[in-house]
Amino acid sequence: MSAKPLRKAVLPVAGLGTRFLPATKSMPKEMMTVVDRPLIQYAVDEARAAGIEQFCMVSGRGKTALIDHFDVSYELEATLKERGKTEALAQLQQDRLQPGSITTVRQQEPLGLGHAIWCARTFIGDEPFAILLPDDLVLSKTPCMAQLAQAYKETEGSVVAVVEVPRDQTNRYGILKIGEDDGRLVEVTGLVEKPKPDVAPSNLSIIGRYVLMPEVIEHLSRMERGAGNEVQLTDAMAKLIGHSPFHGLRFEGERFDCGDKVGFLEAQIAFSLARPDLAGDVRRFLKKYT
Ligand code: UTP
Repeated sequence: MSAKPLRKAVLPVAGLGTRFLPATKSMPKEMMTVVDRPLIQYAVDEARAAGIEQFCMVSGRGKTALIDHFDVSYELEATLKERGKTEALAQLQQDRLQPGSITTVRQQEPLGLGHAIWCARTFIGDEPFAILLPDDLVLSKTPCMAQLAQAYKETEGSVVAVVEVPRDQTNRYGILKIGEDDGRLVEVTGLVEKPKPDVAPSNLSIIGRYVLMPEVIEHLSRMERGAGNEVQLTDAMAKLIGHSPFHGLRFEGERFDCGDKVGFLEAQIAFSLARPDLAGDVRRFLKKYT
């Protein structure tokens, strides 16, 4: 039996973004830009490159800019047309989503990532689904979600993107307990949210890219509180292990944690150096500061 196709993605955007206050007081964190594109656009583009067709944003108060971003802006488009700005117009049209392919649900209270995913349960239904946390950016040759989708085809089970983190930082991340490891795919035998370094089962950490089986929703619906008294996605994912295949993927590419100031600044540099229209100027001005 071949696995069901991966067609859906959940984009949790209901967090408060407290680490970026005051920038995030009236603007969603996911609208912050790296070079000239908002974080949410990178996430949607990455998912589309993996063949995903349907999107659900799990949103909260003050996040309407995210919905508007994917809408048609008639006045703007008419003005661009009038002024002959064909390139900018084509880019806008390419960036937005097909009518009816994006839906939103409200989380109402930020009770944790697991709770945010549970809020998308009707959208998810009985299909495997992707999760992309827009504040994690990955710079890679093949988009990270496309690499995960390929691994899902191979394993026909849940797959999470993983990176190695320094041992003394395991208490900041969801950490894997691992079985067989072929250097690319790692069998997951357990998952622990934010373990202290002395009890962490490995230094392989989950980043904000997942392909999960819909059964995770049953586990989330128990609303068990975990680390930080939040409903943790990691705890519900751990309950899938042993019932269906579960792997970590050491993906090709570099991940930037844009929910953190230093990670966000590093992403600006890395993404601008990857742009042929900007790399030369950026390299030149960087010399001034090093
Ligand atoms: P973070 O841990 O980065 O939290 O959430 P945050 O609120 O966005 O930012 P800080 O820590 O206050 O600065 C990781 C991802 O999970 C989503 C966030 O929107 C982000 O994409 N999230 C988190 C929710 O959607 N709901 C929650 O209850 C918690």
